[in-house]
Amino acid sequence: MGLTEFTRDDPIFTDESVLRDSYRPQELLERDKELGEYQSALQPIINGAPPKNIFLYGQTGVGKTVATRLVLKRLINDQENYDDLDIQVVELNCKSASSSYQVSVDLVNKFRDAESMISSTGYPATRVYQMLWDHLNHLDATHVLIVLDEIDSIGSDDDILYQLPRANDNENVQDCWVGVIGISNDFTFRDNLSARVKDSLCEEEIHFPPYDAGQLRTILQQRASKAFRDDVLSDDVIPLCSAFAAQESGSARQALKLIYKAGDLARSREEERVEEHHVRDARTLIEKGKVQDELESLPIQSQLTLYSLLQLEVEGETPCKRAEIYDRYQVVAQIVDADVVSDRTIHDRISQLRLKGFVEHDERNDGIRGGSYYQYSLDVRPEIVEDALRQSSRVAELFD
Ligand SMILES: Nc1ncnc2c1ncn2[C@@H]1O[C@H](COP(=O)(O)OP(=O)(O)OP(=O)(O)O)[C@@H](O)[C@H]1O
Ligand SMILES: [Mg+2]
Repeated sequence: MGLTEFTRDDPIFTDESVLRDSYRPQELLERDKELGEYQSALQPIINGAPPKNIFLYGQTGVGKTVATRLVLKRLINDQENYDDLDIQVVELNCKSASSSYQVSVDLVNKFRDAESMISSTGYPATRVYQMLWDHLNHLDATHVLIVLDEIDSIGSDDDILYQLPRANDNENVQDCWVGVIGISNDFTFRDNLSARVKDSLCEEEIHFPPYDAGQLRTILQQRASKAFRDDVLSDDVIPLCSAFAAQESGSARQALKLIYKAGDLARSREEERVEEHHVRDARTLIEKGKVQDELESLPIQSQLTLYSLLQLEVEGETPCKRAEIYDRYQVVAQIVDADVVSDRTIHDRISQLRLKGFVEHDERNDGIRGGSYYQYSLDVRPEIVEDALRQSSRVAELFD
């Protein structure tokens, strides 16, 4: 039939970009308490006093980044009313920075144009800090706020989170006040911050809790009214998306993704309305996609371990002990002609699978003689694991 003409006729969406992650909403719903805390933490700045350092934490998709953008936009706007203030904001997403050193290099480069940027090798850390202090001292500002989003990616090397909040106290920066806003969705990172960092960075801690179904409904309603055509959503779509997301994560991002996918499915099936079954199918597809992505990145030994557990699960033998998984694993590894690794290694593979959310365990206790041990089962629906494992060329043959 060849190509047909592209014509504009979307029966479902008026503006689907509103549902994408890159969309920046103009207001934050259902977060009045947190916004209040955020504004009071920033209040000293408007009063002309030194800023407080702020640590913002909460699970993924609960509005930390959006809230920060909106609050700072407001702050920058309202400072116009005061002649003696000049507040500047430096925003850095640390996602791809794996150390304090990398973050300090990235910050230096925020102040430089393309030709004079520095590379992330070749300068000693103290030299990079010095460059950063020089830039800050030369800013013609009263206050500079440094936002370090997704700061957990620096891991245990948290020196920058000591250096920046202390920049004034340690007299590295004297010409303007420096305030730091650190943002993280990793609770272990927060708990493991060194004592000196906790003291300096966490002057104000603001927690963003997960959303409940009612809050997600409000958020989805507002977004859906912009994204979808009138009357294409059946009444149960928003409540169902909200309920699924609330139950699984409390993440607005997840809820938005679900309703977007549901709409997308209805559109691709050329249906006029988005119904409950589209939401259910969308949920399965998203779950599959996630499992698929994760599985593809797993080494073959982990895939074989997961396959062994899948078999046991299908046979109704779970929860089972590690030894049972290992017995099964030895057989399947031989069938696909893979190295048979030790029980200890498989133990590590199981732990990894557990961290990734494929496997769950619970502790059993057989009294004084038996001691305590773990029993394992799948934490993802078996059909989904099977589908994903079938994509792996080496494991696929096991299913035949
Ligand atoms: N209260 C809200 N009102 C409207 N939209 C929201 C709200 N909270 C979150 N969102 C939307 O949900 C998505 C995720 O929000 P955001 O990026 O702020 O999450 P986050 O807490 O920074 O997550 P992460 O830890 O993964 O970075 C965005 O698309 C945002 O527009
Ligand atoms: Mg964020």
